[in-house]
Amino acid sequence: MSAPVSLPELERAATWLEVYGSPLYIYDLGEVERRARALTALLPEGSRLLFSLKANPLPAIAEHLCRLGCDAEVSSTGELAVALSAGFPPERVLYTGPGKSAEEVRTALAAGVTGFSAESWSDLERLDRAARSARLRARVLLRVNPSAPPVARLAMSGVSSQFGFDEAELLEGRARLEALEGIELKGLHIYQGTQLADVPALLSAMQVALQVGERLSDALGVAFQVMDLGGGFPWPFATPGVGPDLSPLREALAQLAAGRERTAAATLWFESGRWLCGAAGTLWATVMDVKRSKGKQYVILDTGIHHLGGMSGLGRVPLMGIGVARGGAEVPSGALEEVNVVGPLCTPLDCFARNLRLPPLRAGDRVFVPNVGAYGLTASLTGFLSRPPPLELAHRNGELTSVHRLRWGHEAHARPAAARSILSEEAP
Ligand SMILES: Cc1ncc(COP(=O)(O)O)c(C=O)c1O
Repeated sequence: MSAPVSLPELERAATWLEVYGSPLYIYDLGEVERRARALTALLPEGSRLLFSLKANPLPAIAEHLCRLGCDAEVSSTGELAVALSAGFPPERVLYTGPGKSAEEVRTALAAGVTGFSAESWSDLERLDRAARSARLRARVLLRVNPSAPPVARLAMSGVSSQFGFDEAELLEGRARLEALEGIELKGLHIYQGTQLADVPALLSAMQVALQVGERLSDALGVAFQVMDLGGGFPWPFATPGVGPDLSPLREALAQLAAGRERTAAATLWFESGRWLCGAAGTLWATVMDVKRSKGKQYVILDTGIHHLGGMSGLGRVPLMGIGVARGGAEVPSGALEEVNVVGPLCTPLDCFARNLRLPPLRAGDRVFVPNVGAYGLTASLTGFLSRPPPLELAHRNGELTSVHRLRWGHEAHARPAAARSILSEEAP
């Protein structure tokens, strides 16, 4: 399988690979913009769209989505720092994630962020304490794990999970919630999983979320101001192609929104990382060697699971779809050869594709993996084998707008004085 790519893209990449070296991530901000506009147009009038920085925290992408009117969903102080320096005002940031520390909550509050998703009673009580001691009120969405069965392949709800309150637990929670003076309950957050299969799966997830809203609004006696319905908008990862047509969502979502009762006044929020930036990114690399072993052909690249596909550690090795180029043009397909495409790391797990049929390749040829603008570099095993991360280039219509390299390597950390004195007391 060879991925299609336009001639200008090939020529551009050939030039930038010469100038900036290989491997190289190239992101098309025009594509990010088209997707943000398209997704916004599918959502009910007045909805908010949050960009999930976990998909790609590249400053150029975050800045672009901020300018386009998205809000930000962050899950660490690192993502928070990127979001704030990209220009997201603190009041447009939602801080999510299980296992938030008191320190990170304090950091977020000090930066002016008061919007949090709370995942458990202890998370909520930690938020309450931090907000009260900062003389603030945290504006909280309760993340709920609905009782309904899951709709996602990588399900984060509807099954036993570390994410969110079990819905049943909250049905009894009114008095406990009301006692938390540092908390202003704004609404619910119901993100059910990434890569939902298609429009019916998305709609069924949104419907489940809205039904939870009706039940909990009643049980907690609160008219929610926000219903964050999550997302899970699907897009292929590291293979050519496009995701399902989402256009039927517009009408169907509008109907779902119009059918609300107790949550009718709540603003609908949606989250997306993958759909907004997956298509915009391509990883380009160079063939370092082509060799045979025991009847099999190996194409060895200068990129591997330290730059892409580290999530395969989750037990799902993504089958990469790879395109090939030579001197700014596609390699003529001619007779295809069956090859294993592997990376340079010292592990047999560093494998991009097995038994892939590609045109005959030689050292110096370029290869590219499309659809890696989300969950690419920062979702990989970047520290493994201590090879530097590739440069990341962003452009608009072929005009380069930024070049970044992810920070990497160890930096010395001064031992705190207390630990030093304990160690010296213990020394023989
Ligand atoms: C709470 C939450 N919101 C948003 C996202 C982004 O999902 P996607 O990139 O599929 O849009 C995730 C991904 O895991 C998530 O956990």
